[in-house]
Amino acid sequence: MESKKIILSGIQATGNLTLGNYLGALNNWTQMQDKYDCYYMIADLHTLTVRRNPEELRKNTLSLIALYIAAGLDPKKNTIFIQSHVPAHSQLSWILNCYTYMGELSRMTQYKDKATKHPDNLNSGLFNYPVLMASDILLYNADLVPVGEDQRQHLEITRDIAERFNSIYGETFKIPKAYVGKDGARIMGLQDPTSKMSKSAENELDKVLLTDTPELIIKKFKKAITDSENKVKYDKENKPGISNLMVIYGVIKNKSMDEIEKEFDGVGYGDFKKTVGEAVVERLIPMQERYNELINEPEKLKAIYQQGDKRAIVKTADLLKEVYRKVGLVVD
Ligand code: TYM
Repeated sequence: MESKKIILSGIQATGNLTLGNYLGALNNWTQMQDKYDCYYMIADLHTLTVRRNPEELRKNTLSLIALYIAAGLDPKKNTIFIQSHVPAHSQLSWILNCYTYMGELSRMTQYKDKATKHPDNLNSGLFNYPVLMASDILLYNADLVPVGEDQRQHLEITRDIAERFNSIYGETFKIPKAYVGKDGARIMGLQDPTSKMSKSAENELDKVLLTDTPELIIKKFKKAITDSENKVKYDKENKPGISNLMVIYGVIKNKSMDEIEKEFDGVGYGDFKKTVGEAVVERLIPMQERYNELINEPEKLKAIYQQGDKRAIVKTADLLKEVYRKVGLVVD
């Protein structure tokens, strides 16, 4: 029997996840769990590039595990673990830093963005962030990495680093591919539909949080910025607001843009916005209910990540050793 392909992905444990994180990542992950051998981690080390409140970070880490499960990931079918509990990630990261050039890291758009936003804390973790991400992926021999569009460049640098290492030392790392969903890969802000929906947006109305109440979700959709044509038609260039709402609706209802145009032919924006808001509520509320149950069972969550940590530690041991040996470290 051919063995299953390997998937690895993760989300930063920063709290306040948005509908973008859900539709661009989590929602796709839940659809992969039967077909693939899946590793889903809580990226806690990556969050340290920005100053965090230690207690909050611990809380966010646990709550992200609860959210993974509430969203539909079955801990029996998937390996769910905490990045910092698997030391091989940091260990490989140091080695790969020595095979990554300053020039390529300085071209990363996410680094350039963050450098502009946090000029007072321009630490080297922010700069080396993609190398840790490459280590996360390469350690598992991942074939596919399900992420939103904004992570594509980080996948490209991961492939470059892996190819460079392989060309020096012979076949070591599998070359992974980004798996970017057909739709939902880039959910835009509701107030500024030309920028992606982001956890850090200052305008609360711009982002839908996975923890928002039904009333708030409906309100945010009602206030979403559209255009003056009052026609539900997909046109990303000229009608970014309505197109974004159509994408959100399409991913949740599994409908194409053509189907949505037909369904809402002659329907005005007010009614369409309300329908999209209701579809989001319908999807998020059961998830919130499961989440609220799980978050009150910290022992259960602990058992889940401890089991995942163990599996991840076993999975990564041989490859790290092979890398150590290849670069000339004494291993036995
Ligand atoms: P993070 O935590 O910023 O985002 C988690 C996932 O959500 C996706 N996403 C979106 N998708 C669609 N529309 C949006 N508006 C939107 N906003 C966010 C992201 O593309 C991502 O898939 N560096 C990663 C975490 C990470 C990782 C990894 C991912 C660490 N190591 C290894 C994959 C493999 C990050 O910061 O994602």
